[in-house]
Amino acid sequence: MEKKMEAEIETKTEKRNAAPPEEIQDFYNKALFYAARAHNGQLYANLPYIVHVCMVADEVLMADRIEPLSNLKDAVQIALLHDVLEDTPITKDEMLESFEPNVVHGVDLLTKKEGLPLSAYFQRIKDGDADVSVIKMCDRIINLQRPPVHWTAEDIAEYNEESLMILEMLGWSSEYVSKRLRVKVELYEKMFMRK
Ligand code: NI
Repeated sequence: MEKKMEAEIETKTEKRNAAPPEEIQDFYNKALFYAARAHNGQLYANLPYIVHVCMVADEVLMADRIEPLSNLKDAVQIALLHDVLEDTPITKDEMLESFEPNVVHGVDLLTKKEGLPLSAYFQRIKDGDADVSVIKMCDRIINLQRPPVHWTAEDIAEYNEESLMILEMLGWSSEYVSKRLRVKVELYEKMFMRK
């Protein structure tokens, strides 16, 4: 039994474009600096915004230990940079001066576009690299915290609907992460939604 599992893990690992850990760490730090500068002054739950970004990247790193991603080096960078295009004035072209096209493309897929319906936004992510779907789920795992005080019951219900849509459309990309997201959604419903 154990042998079989080892073999399975090996095949999964073989498929991945595995960069050496020190290289991943260097790229992690580079993206972290860039994101910290870009989000400087922004807050997340009254803390520097970079806390959110690091939490998402840590989710991605842990997920990779359970179910290897196809390209962890790019995935951690995309996770750290995932809100740069959406929430700062930095453009795609500017990012391309510092990061590889695959990284910038991943960030672009995760960026909500004005006028693009939510289902189309999720569909774009789904059609992209599976790692990007995993990152989107990791982002939602982190965001399913106590809702901001100014949110109405409808806002909360809408956010919950959106989370269920993420699970339905992107859950295929990782069994481990989708299970973890499902637990967070259930907790959110239990704690913050009135029946
Ligand atoms: Ni985010």
